[in-house]
Amino acid sequence: MSDQIQEQVKEAQRNILAHLASYEMAMAELYAAFAECIPEHRMAWEKMAEEERGHARMVSGLDAFLARGFLFHNIGRFDVGTMDDHVRAMEQFRKASLMDGIDISKAGKIALEAEASILEGGFYQVVESDSREFQIMAKHLSDSTTKHVDRLREMLSSAGPNRSPPCE
Ligand SMILES: [Fe+2]
Repeated sequence: MSDQIQEQVKEAQRNILAHLASYEMAMAELYAAFAECIPEHRMAWEKMAEEERGHARMVSGLDAFLARGFLFHNIGRFDVGTMDDHVRAMEQFRKASLMDGIDISKAGKIALEAEASILEGGFYQVVESDSREFQIMAKHLSDSTTKHVDRLREMLSSAGPNRSPPCE
């Protein structure tokens, strides 16, 4: 690969990582809003919001692998436009929740969809790198996302109807 092409590939990969970090950050902000809106489950949402911030930081840190000369494999199949659409949708849900309130079953479903599309997209499973450190981070991100799905399912199955009032 010529230096120039290598630089272009790196730049494209950096761009995809930045979008993925925004996706994780949008989830953090959405969950922080749910924590405000659903006092009965405030701590659970706050904890997940904090973990999503951690995911965003971790994904942002993946840039360092590019700087060190590792490229990612299979990353090109991720479409930044689709990620942008998801980020915008989460932002709208966040604003609507703060303005109108939201009940746990709706919040849980929105969150489950956001987590599931990360898993279905398979970013943390299909993206590969020759760096062993990356494999460890990807596994952590994938496991943590799966745990959120389990926790959300549990939250949903134990939730009664408890629509919160507007909370901003
Ligand atoms: Fe996440």
